[in-house]
Amino acid sequence: RTCRTLDVCTPLLEDALGEEPHGEIEHTCGGVTACSTCHVWINKGMENRSEATDAEGDRVDQARDVKITSRLSCQARIETDNVEIVCEIPAWNRNLVKEAPHD
Ligand code: FES
Repeated sequence: RTCRTLDVCTPLLEDALGEEPHGEIEHTCGGVTACSTCHVWINKGMENRSEATDAEGDRVDQARDVKITSRLSCQARIETDNVEIVCEIPAWNRNLVKEAPHD
């Protein structure tokens, strides 16, 4: 999955959710660093993202299959304009059950 940044400082999660179909990245806590369901591997463009805070580092360590490229997509922000970021969503992290929209 390629996440193209629309605005510098946009979290990867927000950028990804702005595309169709929405909600491909799970985000149980809504982006407040209280879960690790938004865990992604950044396979390209890692040098263009913000540094992880201690809170993010502590939380991402609770995700499964953590790699050196692991980030919480709700926290990792792009710091450079016009760059390509390639994210991989761990298969076990995908939300396979979707709630029907509420009217
Ligand atoms: Fe929960 Fe990112 S959505 S930590």
